[in-house]
Amino acid sequence: MLIRVISDVHGNLVALKAVLDDPAGKKADSTICLGDVVGYGSHPGDCINIIRKVCDEVVAGNHDLGAAGMIGVSHFNPDGRKAIEWTREKISQEHIEWINSLPRQTFYHGISFSHASLKEPSSWNYILNSTAAVDAILVAGEYISIYGHTHMPMQWNRFGDCSSKDEGHLPDYSLINCGSVGQPRDGDSRAAYLLLDIEKQTFQHMRVNYDVHAASTAIIEAGLPKNLAKRLFLGK
Ligand SMILES: [Fe+2]
Repeated sequence: MLIRVISDVHGNLVALKAVLDDPAGKKADSTICLGDVVGYGSHPGDCINIIRKVCDEVVAGNHDLGAAGMIGVSHFNPDGRKAIEWTREKISQEHIEWINSLPRQTFYHGISFSHASLKEPSSWNYILNSTAAVDAILVAGEYISIYGHTHMPMQWNRFGDCSSKDEGHLPDYSLINCGSVGQPRDGDSRAAYLLLDIEKQTFQHMRVNYDVHAASTAIIEAGLPKNLAKRLFLGK
């Protein structure tokens, strides 16, 4: 059983298509999406349509729920807020109902999948340090927990030690971040996703080149904040 995990597509249709076309990931038996399908990028509706078709499980991200009007937008930065408001005008009622139907956490083959930290889910906590990692691990209990939200591929062991190795043995870690398809923030502009091999009990972080210029131009042409276009080149 090979599971492909994608997250934080953020309306970047070019990056999403490149990731789904990556030969290693195409061999997967299942695909799971960890939310933030929309927000920041120029093609929210198209990305939702593809995710609905391709993914076996999807959990909600804060940008999805913001765009659907399910949560307030005050915790987003100004560019993020503008993009959420723009997105809300672009997606359909059917898309909104689909977002509203998404769970915050799902379990698949004995692994927990969520968008953000499991600690106080409505706070959308980021896991960026050892304390936050241990807090999330305590809530996850015995489960290995796969998450997104920070847009940075990495993993944490049960003591809260961080690793950025590209691959490893699943039981060695309690938390694994799959990175972001549509807006990486680890200084690498390539789209990121994660492969989990359940039989071998291994994981592998994957990176895929995509046409960043096309995605960036589409953001500017849509009238979204220019900074959202620029940061795609930096992977920040
Ligand atoms: Fe995100």
